[in-house]
Amino acid sequence: MGSLSVQWAALAALKEKNQGRSILSLFDTPNRASEFSAQTGDMLFDYSKTNLDAETRDALLALVEAADAPAKCAAMFGGEAINDTEGRAVLHTALRNLDGGPVYVDGFDVMPGIHATLERMRIYANHIRNSDITDVVNIGIGGSDLGPAMAVQALSPYHDGPRCHFVSNVDGAHIADVLRGLEAKTTLVIVASKTFTTIETMTNARTAKAWMQAQGGDASAQFAALSTSEEKTRDFGIPPERVFGFEDWVGGRYSLWGPIGLSLMIAIGPDRFDAFLRGGQEMDRHFQTAQGVGNLPVMLALVGIWHAQVCGYASRAVLPYDQRLARLPDYFQQLEMESNGKAVQMDGTPVDVSSGPIVWGAAGTNGQHAFYQLIHQGTRIVPCEFMIAAEGHEPDLAHHHQLLIANCLAQSEALMRGRSLEEARAKMEAAGLSGDELERQARHRVFTGDRPSTTLAYPRLDPFVLGQIVALYEHRVFVEGVILGINSFDQWGVELGKELATSLQPIIEGHADASEKDGSTAALVGFLHQHQKQ
Ligand code: F6P
Repeated sequence: MGSLSVQWAALAALKEKNQGRSILSLFDTPNRASEFSAQTGDMLFDYSKTNLDAETRDALLALVEAADAPAKCAAMFGGEAINDTEGRAVLHTALRNLDGGPVYVDGFDVMPGIHATLERMRIYANHIRNSDITDVVNIGIGGSDLGPAMAVQALSPYHDGPRCHFVSNVDGAHIADVLRGLEAKTTLVIVASKTFTTIETMTNARTAKAWMQAQGGDASAQFAALSTSEEKTRDFGIPPERVFGFEDWVGGRYSLWGPIGLSLMIAIGPDRFDAFLRGGQEMDRHFQTAQGVGNLPVMLALVGIWHAQVCGYASRAVLPYDQRLARLPDYFQQLEMESNGKAVQMDGTPVDVSSGPIVWGAAGTNGQHAFYQLIHQGTRIVPCEFMIAAEGHEPDLAHHHQLLIANCLAQSEALMRGRSLEEARAKMEAAGLSGDELERQARHRVFTGDRPSTTLAYPRLDPFVLGQIVALYEHRVFVEGVILGINSFDQWGVELGKELATSLQPIIEGHADASEKDGSTAALVGFLHQHQKQ
């Protein structure tokens, strides 16, 4: 188990020792809720409905120390090349360092460049907001899509700019459905790609350009690019004044804070975009300065480690009780799974514990009527991460919000408390059943309970709070990655599929045969060719 074997063993022993102790019983201790929660400003992270006690928490904190997390955190903020399989610094935090000092990469302060690009974005965003442009189409995929798409939806009450649309899938259905109904002359197309090589994005970008030209739009004026590659954006025909660049030390899934956030800035305006950055900056400060149990990202990470690596729960559900955060589970899925879904440590040796969990989820209350059945009564334990605002943006519909809160809190209570066989029997008796039928029906109504969950509570989903939430999870992923000993900032696992797709393309197009492929692939190619009519 590498250098943390002692700490992992201690945690395994604590898990063993506390086997059978219910989460509910932990509330016999006074102040359980306040002692097992952390707060920064108006944001509260409650992890009291988990099986952590003070001893386990100390053992988890020992993991943080043993992994040298504080020094690694300083190295990240300090611009060291901690992404060492790609030889890059990791400085998405610099993009939101609005009020901070210089940040050096190889002895060079990157802040003047960041401020200059941000200022160009502001000018451009205001120009678009004050122009005839009615629709913005962001073409990108992965980190160049999920972040802005999630955030534009999350902040819709603040959206006073042109409508925003997002095209990501290479499936022609996606771009066809988005462009249908748009007026080319009043549409701005933003091609968002860090590398400007991603096949899905470049294919969609060329299709959008052809559509623009065919529909009488001005492709030379109505395209902007967000990328690290000046050369490739120029080759595509987008002039430098409409290219917003960033450096390779901003990872795709961490890039919402900079040029990749342009569609968001156009939607909500530069001032509110600044508030979003300030929320992230505030979480950075908290992460760097709050000690031990008072540190939200650290505690969120440790709860995650406890559930995934110590208890062996394979997945976790992100459950925002906030319809406007409906895309947040998708966004966190990339953030966490592309960052920590790896089998080797920094030094190339295997990870000795399981790597990052499967992250999934949906907005509440919708999920309650879809998959919560399994969460409550299935044989697998799924730790749940609830999120809830104290109030919504619809004062006239405040009663909806009260109902939303009631549902959110009811779910975490039900998961913890459950319903015993005796209680189920009493219910069946009250319903008039008796004998074998009562017994049979009662068993279907038992909830084992003792299922862990956390709740993140915040005043209202405004730009600042969204910035806090996103940065909170980024740092959580960082701390978990440090404890696992892996590089959270590369993504070699996406390469093989890309290479094989490139080699399959001529076969699918009929320019090469499939004889070199395995039997299944060759047969599938044959079937699909046989059924192609166009
Ligand atoms: O899926 C791999 C990946 O590189 C992601 O990390 C990234 O967010 C996405 O592709 C898009 O990359 P790009 O912004 O370079 O088009």
